[in-house]
Amino acid sequence: MSADGKISDRFRTAARFPSVADQAHLERCLATADATLFGAGTLRAYGTTALVKDPALLAKRRQQQLSQPIHIVCSRSGQLDPTARFFSQPVPRWLLTTPTGAKNWYGQNCFERIWPAPTMENSDRFDWLTILSELKTLDIHHLVLMGGGELVAALLAMDVIDELRLTICPLIVGGRQAPTPCDGDGFSLASAPGFILISNQTVGDEVFLHYRRQR
Ligand SMILES: NC(=O)c1ccc[n+]([C@@H]2O[C@H](COP(=O)([O-])OP(=O)(O)OC[C@H]3O[C@@H](n4cnc5c(N)ncnc54)[C@H](OP(=O)(O)O)[C@@H]3O)[C@@H](O)[C@H]2O)c1
Repeated sequence: MSADGKISDRFRTAARFPSVADQAHLERCLATADATLFGAGTLRAYGTTALVKDPALLAKRRQQQLSQPIHIVCSRSGQLDPTARFFSQPVPRWLLTTPTGAKNWYGQNCFERIWPAPTMENSDRFDWLTILSELKTLDIHHLVLMGGGELVAALLAMDVIDELRLTICPLIVGGRQAPTPCDGDGFSLASAPGFILISNQTVGDEVFLHYRRQR
């Protein structure tokens, strides 16, 4: 995020301001994951997803019989551009969506798994506790949530985020409309989830922060 806590600008363009060091940091995080989850807004902005490319990281995954982590797109509407470069990237792709959103994708080769999300009782809100426990039954224990702010807010509201990795980048975006690491309705100060700082590192003009949720 920028030094003023924005993850993009008000046009929600692809946030390409992080340095090479931060991209390598993301790649190292992804290399430890069974799967990664991101919102449709993030996919619409970038058109692609982040890959593990470093030969040493790939070799380590291969030793554990792993290829790229599974890339799970979360989209209520299912309205995604099938010509996006994401669909030709060498990753396993899953779609977490609604029954309506799923209809657009059945019978195509874009996703290995099209997964109508379980929802909360008498509601169309995704039931994250059930989704995460179903992921565990599919051997997905370590999930890296790549954003954006709307999806992070939904998972943080359910208190299912254990760790937070923030990189502070040396620019100010400003404005009220630019997305932040956690958007949604926000929390009151009394209910805001707290974290413990477990490491911090400065590389060039960026600061890398690693927090663990304090429950
Ligand atoms: N700097 C960074 O590290 C970073 C990282 C990621 C993203 N970004 C930036 O963040 C922006 C995108 O963030 P965003 O907040 O607009 O979008 P987002 O969270 O990536 O995606 C929002 C969309 O995801 C789906 N979604 C989100 N929460 C959901 C829930 N609880 N249940 C069901 N579906 C849900 C919906 O898809 P449908 O619309 O299809 O229904 C929703 O419109 C872009 O500008 C991108 O560049 C920056």
